[in-house]
Formats: sequence, structure tokens, C-alpha cells
Amino acid sequence: MITTCRICKSSIKQFMSFGDMPIANGFKADKSNKDEFFYDMAVGFCNDCKMFQLLDHPEPEAMFNDSYAFFSGTSQAMTSHFRGFYESVVSKYKLDAAESFIVEIGCNDGILLDNFSQAGFKHLGVEPSGNVADVAIAKGIECTKSFFDTNLVSDLLNKGIKADLIVSANVICHIPDLNDLAQNVASLLKEDGVFVFEEPYLGAMIEKISYDQIYDEHIYIFSAISLQTAFARQGLRLIDTEKQTTHGGSMRYHFCLDESERVPAGQVSEVIAAEKEQGLDNAGTYDKFRENCETSKYQLRTLLEKLKDEGASVCGYGATSKSTTVLNYCGIGLDLIAFISDTTPIKQGKYTPGTNIPVVEPDVFYESNPDYAVLFAWNHEKEIMDKEEKLGKSSVKWIRFVPLVEII
Ligand code: SAH
Ligand code: TYD
Repeated sequence: MITTCRICKSSIKQFMSFGDMPIANGFKADKSNKDEFFYDMAVGFCNDCKMFQLLDHPEPEAMFNDSYAFFSGTSQAMTSHFRGFYESVVSKYKLDAAESFIVEIGCNDGILLDNFSQAGFKHLGVEPSGNVADVAIAKGIECTKSFFDTNLVSDLLNKGIKADLIVSANVICHIPDLNDLAQNVASLLKEDGVFVFEEPYLGAMIEKISYDQIYDEHIYIFSAISLQTAFARQGLRLIDTEKQTTHGGSMRYHFCLDESERVPAGQVSEVIAAEKEQGLDNAGTYDKFRENCETSKYQLRTLLEKLKDEGASVCGYGATSKSTTVLNYCGIGLDLIAFISDTTPIKQGKYTPGTNIPVVEPDVFYESNPDYAVLFAWNHEKEIMDKEEKLGKSSVKWIRFVPLVEII
């Protein structure tokens, strides 16, 4: 457990703990907790550099390996989102397939990088989880099965590779040594190169009380203030921010080298002013957030217990990483939720980390037609509702817990 901030080394204190937590994507072949790894999921906020961070986490190799359970391509909506990401950066930075070299940190199954690859850009995906990297490679994407670290960047520099664009999505908050990451990005960028990435947004999490964004992989939940401060220390300058609706509220950040002549867009100062207005730079905001999490936990448990007393059948929908936090923090097990339906083959037939709820394929969900489903994949609500309405195979009533616990 750290006692000093990972970024600026000031002393940092815990403002809350979500209790003993297993690996969020650690779906298990059997129900036993015998060999399961648990850590104390405590969180802190650095009063000096304003970084929101986990105080402890499992080793990256325990989370990102050849049996990684998250495949980006399971959502159609995310596939189109990443198409839009590609089109927007290519046009904004006038990238040319014949000239520009693109690096993606954490390309997973290639959901974003495939767009560059198809358009003929020279590119490299960096992806430590071998099984998802294999899917990218099978699509014809150049991908190295590695963590993005100093060794890899030295290798690339030795080969004479420098990047016009480094992209990433939902990965940078997974990297414990952020100072090192920023230094490596700065060395790999061409003089006028840009680093564009998006991450779950602290402002959205505080507003929606979506505490389930906090889990082992998300070592940080960023704000523009905290990232601008952290990366400025390593010679990177924030030049643009774009709010995104994905993953329940994300922010896309654009950085360039300090010495670049690029001029920051007006919305950078607007976003930073809005963050101050929201109190994201103020420790008191996180005390209030802790109270809100406790209320949300109480309300979700109370609702599920009431439904159980009434004899209703309840399942979960979407065995998300986020659901590991909700289930373990709220103490929800098989007594309250019979199974979780999920479309990802590698999760089906397994049990949820810590709470041992079976993950089943959607057919089981349709056949048993439960009375209620807790929408753990709430960030895909529209895609899921549209799909289920079109299929018409279930008459389930949905339970939402973000931003408020309610039956939809
Ligand atoms: N970019 C995809 C995947 C996000 S999941 C999307 O937005 O859907 C996070 C991914 O980051 C995983 O595939 C994981 O293996 C990868 N990852 C984690 N740490 C990494 C690191 N240090 N360098 C590169 N990739 C990393
Ligand atoms: P997601 O919310 O993207 O990720 P995280 O693990 O980061 O919290 O995960 C969505 C999960 O929901 C994934 O396991 C696939 C599943 N899912 C379905 O079962 N049905 C669907 O229609 C969709 C869109 C997702």
C-alpha cells in the first residue's frame, strides 16, 4: 500500500476502502476462493498534484496475460466509436497514410488500430495480453505482445522508429508508473507528434456516483487538471480535451511535446475551470463521494433483498469488470443474483471473481426469463435495450444503479 503519491511523492491518505477485492477480470473455472488473490481496494486523493489513485493493486502481469477476459470488439457501439476516433484524429492532424507512423498503446483486439491498418498507415500495436493480441494479429495488424515500457521504446528508437501519433483508449489509467509512461511517450514522439488518448473521466464518476469505475486495472481516474500537472513534469503539454459518452463518461486528451508550436484549444481552459467548479481539485469532494457510495450500496442491497423476499428471480446482465467492484463492495452473491448473462465466450461457464456467481450465455437468460436483471453493463444501456427490444425474447424488468438505484 503506498503512502506517497505515485506522481509527485507527497504524502497521501486513504479516503475510503471498498474492502477486499479480487482481480476484476479474474473469472474463475471453479467456485473456490482458495487460491484467489484479494487486495484492499483503498483509494486516495493527492492534495498536491490532485491525482485520484488506488493505494494498492495487483501486479500488472496478474491482470494482463494470455487469458485476459476483456475483448473490445464485443460492443458494436464501441466499434463505431473507434471508427469516429480514427476519422477525427486523421482529419484534425492531417495524417497521411504514406508518411505517418501510428503507435497504439493497449490495442487489445485491434478495435481502433484496424482502422489505421486498413487505410494503409504504418503502425504498431503494443499489447501485453497475448490472447487479445492474437485477434488483432489475425486481422493483419502489426502488433507486439509486450507492455509499453522503457525497454520496448528503446528498441523502437534503436530501429529508427518515431511516432507521428500515439493513440490509446482505456489503457493509460492502467499503467502504474505514469511518470515513466509520459517520459517514454515523449521520447517516442516526433518533434511535432501528438499523443491522443481517452479514459474514464473523474468528473463523470463523481457526478454519477459510478464508483464501479474503480477496480484493480484503473489505478487512476483522471481529470484534465491531474493529467495536465502530471504530464507537464515530463515535458508534455495539454492542447485539447473532448468529452466522450463512452464507458459512462470519458475524456479524450491531446498532448504534444512542450517545445512544439501547437496552440491549446479554448476548451482546455473551459474544462479546467469546470473541474474547479465541480471541486475535483478539492479533498472535500471525495468525502462526499464516499458518503454517496455508501448510500448507493445500501439502496442496491435493500432493493435486491426486497425482491428476494417477494420471491422474484433476479439475474445480472454483463459480467463487466465494473460488476466485480459492485458485487464485492455490496456483498451481493448467489443469494441475491442467480447468474450473470454475458456474450463473451471466455467468460461463459465461469464464476465471478470473489462472489462465485455463474456467468452464462444469453440463451440461458432467455430460457429462464427472470423477473429482473441488474444492468451491470449500464454504459451500453442504449445498445442493449435496442438489441433486447428487437429480439423480444425476454420480458425482464431492468435494474439500474447508476446514477441512482432504480427499476427502469
Ligand atoms: N483499447 C481497448 C482496450 C482497453 S482494455 C479499448 O478501449 O477497448 C486495456 C488494455 O490495455 C488491455 O488489452 C491490456 O492488456 C492493455 N494494457 C495494460 N497495460 C498495458 C501497458 N502497460 N502497455 C500496453 N498495453 C497495456
Ligand atoms: P464493458 O462495460 O465494456 O467493460 P468493463 O469490463 O470495462 O466494465 O463490458 C461489457 C460487458 O458486457 C462485456 O463482458 C460484454 C457484455 N455485453 C453483453 O453481454 N451484451 C451486450 O449486448 C453488450 C453490449 C455487452
